Amino acid sequence: MVLPFPGDIVVTYTALGGAMTAMSQGSLGVAARAPAVKDRSCLELGLVPSAVRGARHWAANLLTQANFDQEIVDAIVLLVSELVTNAIHAVTDPPDQQRPHQVWLAIERSPALVRVEVHDTACVPVPPEAPRRDDEEESGRGLEVIAAIASFWGWSPDSLGKVVWCELAF
Ligand SMILES: Nc1ncnc2c1ncn2[C@@H]1O[C@H](COP(=O)(O)OP(=O)(O)OP(=O)(O)O)[C@@H](O)[C@H]1O
Ligand SMILES: [Mg+2]
Repeated sequence: MVLPFPGDIVVTYTALGGAMTAMSQGSLGVAARAPAVKDRSCLELGLVPSAVRGARHWAANLLTQANFDQEIVDAIVLLVSELVTNAIHAVTDPPDQQRPHQVWLAIERSPALVRVEVHDTACVPVPPEAPRRDDEEESGRGLEVIAAIASFWGWSPDSLGKVVWCELAF
């Protein structure tokens, strides 16, 4: 497997059936283009819907242990949930057997900002803003939620495929 963040320490979550791998202190690759912050943690996600729950728990533990307020933890967990759900959906529907896919979650922390990045291998563009939808529609709310909660969000191509990111400033 090619790691998008070389040089990191890798820890495998065996309890999750090898579905996830955590790394501490990312440095190269995408991190080089991100603002200089010291605390960055990355997690490779299994390409199954249940990985969203694991990502939520991982993010909540990370931020709680770093003593962030519960309000901030809750907001980040919601952002993680929407971004990861979209990424897993993008790489698994329709299933593309021709190439191996990956989804990575990265969280950067500084005293006044938390940045969430979700990297995926689906070379599909993301709408530049939350798509307009009818109130009756049951889907299409994720980006709307992200736009409402996050201070900034966006996406760009990266070495893996693309990254969709958002930041919460406080
Ligand atoms: N990581 C991604 N890769 C490719 N396309 C994406 C990605 N994230 C979002 N999109 C596109 O943006 C659209 C809108 O995303 P959004 O999260 O708002 O709605 P949804 O996922 O369709 O529904 P909901 O989040 O309400 O269940 C998606 O349907 C998809 O086409
Ligand atoms: Mg969504």
